[in-house]
Amino acid sequence: MGSTVLGIETSCDECSAAVVHVESGKAVEVRSVATYSQIALHRPYGGVVPEIASRNHLETVNQMIDQALNDAKISPKNLDAIAVTNRPGLAGALLVGVSAAKALAYATGKPLVAVHHLEGHAISPFLGGRNAPDVQLPLPHLLAIVSGGHTNLYVMKVLPELWPPDFLRRSLVGRSRDDAAGEAFDKTAKTLGFPYPGGVWIDKTAQNGNPSAFSFPRALPQKATYDFSFSGLKTALALQAEKLKKTGELEERLPDLCASLQEAIVDALLGKIYLAARDHGCRSLSIVGGVAANSRLRGRLAGEWQKQGFLREPLFPLPEYCTDNAAMIAAAGAYRFRQGQFFRGDDLLTLNAIPNPEV
Ligand code: KG4
Ligand code: ZN
Repeated sequence: MGSTVLGIETSCDECSAAVVHVESGKAVEVRSVATYSQIALHRPYGGVVPEIASRNHLETVNQMIDQALNDAKISPKNLDAIAVTNRPGLAGALLVGVSAAKALAYATGKPLVAVHHLEGHAISPFLGGRNAPDVQLPLPHLLAIVSGGHTNLYVMKVLPELWPPDFLRRSLVGRSRDDAAGEAFDKTAKTLGFPYPGGVWIDKTAQNGNPSAFSFPRALPQKATYDFSFSGLKTALALQAEKLKKTGELEERLPDLCASLQEAIVDALLGKIYLAARDHGCRSLSIVGGVAANSRLRGRLAGEWQKQGFLREPLFPLPEYCTDNAAMIAAAGAYRFRQGQFFRGDDLLTLNAIPNPEV
């Protein structure tokens, strides 16, 4: 039997609601997604302003929920469960989604599932009917979460619908020791004068550049760790940009600079991904989070995955599920719900937003 779940996501700067339907051994079916992105609101400040984020979520969350339910042609009483991101994220922003979800669950008597935001990203390649989380996923599976806040590697030994509640903590094998990969893109892009968020601008500008034009550091090259370090790139890039500015070449060398910087980040990511996959005997790979949209990362993998011992091509989320969205939260929540992990009735009072969980 299938489960139809409404998901709500307000942990950062996207306000999103979605309805999905899951069935054992089948792809997650996304029935609707309504998302309001606040990127334009935060752009003048060069990053997300927490107070602006939570105030705006408050204005839009009910509209997103109504739209998702309408588009999926379902009334709340026909849902099997509601799922909401309750960790990690901005405290005020999370609270808006959690409060809306609790109110709806209380009023309708529906079970409410609390979802870790990263569990949503982890499930995102299986949305949209393209990649069923079924027996065709060769195990063990290496999952790379590469976003503005995280660069984490996990080794998964069971299929997604059986991932246990604390799988993130249990299966983590590598992480960034300082900046996340997306943060490295964004901070260096800011130095170069690109708008926020800068990853996509570096990607675009790099299309016309030479990736070996400049040499940038690849940190932690030793074989003994699957951890990453990206903080050194900011200084290296700033020094190089300063030199080019002095000689008046910055503008014309921008494509080379972006291509070389991007190559350093992609090299560092793939180096540790391949090392972890080899050491743990991983047979499949998925890459999720905003940086999974990077064209060089995808291009390199397209030509290299077979040589690395993977049995099927790497899974990426569809572009619309790379960035934050409620469909992935609804899907992660649906599997949790089917495992019996939910709050209902007076238990709802114990559910809270947790900005910085341990995992
Ligand atoms: O997963 P996400 O939407 O938000 C977080 O939860 O962090 O990821 C956003 C990150 C930003 O750092 C953004 O610059 C980066 O993903 N990003 C990219 C690209 N598109 C988005 N980085 C490199 N190349 C891209 N094409
Ligand atoms: Zn995210």
